[in-house]
Amino acid sequence: MNYGPKDARELIAFYLEAGADAVIGEEPVDRMADDAKPSPARLGPDGKPLRAGAFAKAARTDPASDRGRQSASPLSRPGESATALISPDTAIMAAREAAKNATSLDELRVLLERFEGCTLRGTATQLVFADGNPEARIMFVGEAPGYEEDITGRPFVGRSGKLLDRMMEAIGLDRTRAYIANVVPWRPPGNRTPTPQEAAICLPFIRRQIELADPDILVCLGQPATQTLLTTKEGITRTRGRWFKYDTGTRQIRALPTFHPAFLLRSPLQKRFAWRDFLAIKKALVS
Ligand code: URA
Repeated sequence: MNYGPKDARELIAFYLEAGADAVIGEEPVDRMADDAKPSPARLGPDGKPLRAGAFAKAARTDPASDRGRQSASPLSRPGESATALISPDTAIMAAREAAKNATSLDELRVLLERFEGCTLRGTATQLVFADGNPEARIMFVGEAPGYEEDITGRPFVGRSGKLLDRMMEAIGLDRTRAYIANVVPWRPPGNRTPTPQEAAICLPFIRRQIELADPDILVCLGQPATQTLLTTKEGITRTRGRWFKYDTGTRQIRALPTFHPAFLLRSPLQKRFAWRDFLAIKKALVS
């Protein structure tokens, strides 16, 4: 049977729909086979397997550069790639240390760009740090970037971002009067929810980002952002619309969980609750 460009397009469309939207290897691996071994393409020069993120990074770099180099540090220098098998605990500790050292948002962005402790960095196109005005009194924090955000490097620019813009506009806000970021600043493949481990590794960075931006009001968009930042296991239908206290590290501010715009796009009937939350935000901003 002959396959043509149309078949290739259909196959790619099928992969995309199934959420497989990132290339992580040159050769397919049959993981169902009894004797499945890591493909040679996934091994470092010392014969040890590379992690997914390290592999993707290595695959993107010039073979003559630092492909496969083992490093104990999750922070790389410009032009370097750390490909160590870093344990999650080590990555969390390194994230805490790096975040603590940032004295400005610009420094934090640079540190995050160099941080290799989160494997999502290897499959994402780029870091999605923030958008809007860091001087604003209000900060919105979502879960993680999606496809459009990954391409543009700006949070909330896709369909849910457009809805967020309209919700902000309804209470007299726009991106010059709000600061916007995500708990996880790299897009998870296929837009899946970040794992608790990925969120834990990124948490010191978003906490420091909030501390440095120092807003008066923090809005947690959706359940993952709410549970991660407000350390609660309660679901978003119970937490939304309830004011929480959030300790930035230097002071206590008010935090409000609300539904994520992506959820509102799927469940438009819930918009009336989000509207109540936004009216509460508007009121809080004048006090
Ligand atoms: N969803 C999020 O949580 N964040 C974005 O930046 C985009 C979509």
